[in-house]
Amino acid sequence: MCGIIGYSGPKQPLPILLAGLSRLEYRGYDSAGIAITDGKNLIIEKKQGKLQVLKDHLSDKKINGNIGIGHTRWATHGVPSDENAHPHYDNNQDFAIIHNGIIENYDEMKEELLKEDYQFESETDTEVVAVELSKRWTGNLLETVCQVAKDLDGTYALVVTTVKQPDTIVAGRMMSPLVLGVGEGEVFLASDSAAILEHTNKMIFLENGDFVEIKDGNYELFDINMNKISREIQEIDWEVSEAEKSGHDHFMYKEILEQAEVIERTITGRLEVGSEEIPVDLKQAKGFEKIWIVACGTAYHAGLFGKDLFEKVLGVSVSVELASEFRYREPIVGENDLAIVISQSGETMDTIAATELLKENNAHVLALVNVVGSSLARMADSVLYLHVGPEIGVASTKAYLGMLVGQLLLAKHWDESSKIETTFEEIKQLPSLIKETLKCESEIKEISKSINNHKDIYFIGRGLDYALAAEGALKLKEISYLHAEALAAGELKHGTLALIEDGTPVIVTASQHHLLDKTTSNVQEVKARGAFVIAIGNNSSKKLQDISNDYVTLPEASEMLSTIVSIIPLQFIAYHVANLNGESIDQPRNLAKSVTVE
Ligand code: M6R
Repeated sequence: MCGIIGYSGPKQPLPILLAGLSRLEYRGYDSAGIAITDGKNLIIEKKQGKLQVLKDHLSDKKINGNIGIGHTRWATHGVPSDENAHPHYDNNQDFAIIHNGIIENYDEMKEELLKEDYQFESETDTEVVAVELSKRWTGNLLETVCQVAKDLDGTYALVVTTVKQPDTIVAGRMMSPLVLGVGEGEVFLASDSAAILEHTNKMIFLENGDFVEIKDGNYELFDINMNKISREIQEIDWEVSEAEKSGHDHFMYKEILEQAEVIERTITGRLEVGSEEIPVDLKQAKGFEKIWIVACGTAYHAGLFGKDLFEKVLGVSVSVELASEFRYREPIVGENDLAIVISQSGETMDTIAATELLKENNAHVLALVNVVGSSLARMADSVLYLHVGPEIGVASTKAYLGMLVGQLLLAKHWDESSKIETTFEEIKQLPSLIKETLKCESEIKEISKSINNHKDIYFIGRGLDYALAAEGALKLKEISYLHAEALAAGELKHGTLALIEDGTPVIVTASQHHLLDKTTSNVQEVKARGAFVIAIGNNSSKKLQDISNDYVTLPEASEMLSTIVSIIPLQFIAYHVANLNGESIDQPRNLAKSVTVE
């Protein structure tokens, strides 16, 4: 939520800021803004709407300077507007500040400042910090920011610049992501390493309570008491091209198509028994008494898939939990529990908060994350990286597939009694299977034309297919704004069947061979009520093929791998329906990629 960019170095900041904001726009697109200092003046420009509005506004302006900061907003406090856009400034326009997070005590601070006749232009929590900085100016930017930060409750990645010390940027982090990019005589700041990868692959992931003072392309790190600290520089091995559309219209589409290649990376080096790449070995896994899988959204749906696998191989009970709910009840977590936290970004605030609770109760936390060096990766006792490269499309696709495969790898390594039939040799062939499955696109494109005008669409499946149905429905609703609902196929008759009428689209995934007859019966039930059935399954389900209006045939594979690749037709359905309806696929309304607020 909200994208932050900063630059200090010999180059002109404006093009760097705008390019960085383009890469960060997936984090929020309610407004965008920049602030640049030229040594004497502080120039602030900001506009409601997508980044293009700001770019158009700046197109005939010459803004030169030595340092700059930029922001793309996902609104929390205050509607999307020019006034509420970042950067915010104090009453004298001496300080400019950009912020990602929520300052929970801003109301009380604002009340005090109003009593002292300070003025406010926006409804945001961030403006209060700008005014506070100016009021408490000590003559040193780092000192002032640290002093004000001590009084802030909540979460922040803050970046501040001021005409009073025009060669300096100060930034600090508490719970919201902030990365420092270290170049040759230049320094970058960003919410996400992919935004500055074209300039440097040397990154420092700031920790909670870290502050950085940046001057003339150099940096020094401090804690909130201004004690110097040091942090390791990490080299990121993502390619710049991975964070680009490479000629495709949408990131989501590109990310669907590249799944074969990225899954190759997920499995590489992890298919040998006892591989060091697998963080929790069989001996340790056998010692756990209970497993928690905790995640949000798509990652939660991936967890539904993992539950069955881990119960099967370890014979312990697995509970899949929505991170946003988890810490508001009293889960009974013990020190012999394993907690698998799943997240593409590794920065989802709900998942981080749930992980804190798991850690307080001494569970072993294993993070299944994509972004190297992210908060969850650093909090966890063990990490299994997905290695699917940067995912920019708000609708998660390749990361979801990586999460399924990551869990399959863990389960295989813990599968002492060979309960999972799929062999490592078969998993090695998964990239080719994905390639084969991607060929269903043209068929799906046609099928999408028969459902894109419907308001309600149902996804059904049994067993692991139900986990996929849940993800298929989420994909469709988040980018097409159609109402989609996933149901365990056997549940229809307990209520939802009442909604099925002539022509209602029902999409069924039927990759679970052992449940095929039961699923087929459920399809017959909807068919009898007039449903328009689109089924996804393999060649052996003749009966299901006969009763379906459309049938998408998956390539031959083991049951487990068939289930995994079944998500591909569902991703294509979401994409093509939204595309036919002209929706903004990479920037769906009201959403942002990385949800760093609760
Ligand atoms: O970064 P995370 O995997 O922790 O994100 C969790 C959810 O916010 C995310 O999966 C969301 O549901 C996706 N936009 C769905 O496509």
